[in-house]
Amino acid sequence: KHVLVLNGPNLNLLGTREPDVYGHQTLEDINSGLRVLADQHGAQCHFFQSNHEGGLVDRIHQARDQGVDFILINAGAYTHTSVAIRDALAGVGIPFIEVHLSNVHRREPFRHHSYLSDTACGVIVGLGAYGYEAALRFALNS
Ligand code: DQA
Repeated sequence: KHVLVLNGPNLNLLGTREPDVYGHQTLEDINSGLRVLADQHGAQCHFFQSNHEGGLVDRIHQARDQGVDFILINAGAYTHTSVAIRDALAGVGIPFIEVHLSNVHRREPFRHHSYLSDTACGVIVGLGAYGYEAALRFALNS
């Protein structure tokens, strides 16, 4: 099984970025944990982070050619703005889980709407880095 883990803008700053909101783990810490978990299940994780909307769209398109079975996506702020990322996910038809480290619903109102949630298999918010692990476990079992 091939799982693509996509992270959007500013998530490269994890570890130092508002640690009270996003925790102390770096993206590399999180991704290493996911890699180990995938290995244990004989699966393969592919990782991609971009601060650019088009880069994320391109990577989603590539996922189809690569035979990716499942996508985990934290689109960061693009969650709340990007019809293009929504359309890309719909366009490739790969099932996905939306992950947010913070509980977006107890933050500013502009974070309460997501362009992705109604087409996701599931949405995980507020569980910190564990949300990615939970999402990967689900993907590996589905
Ligand atoms: C986030 C929540 C978004 O609102 C924010 O723009 C992010 C991170 C999260 O993981 O909690 O960049 O997706």
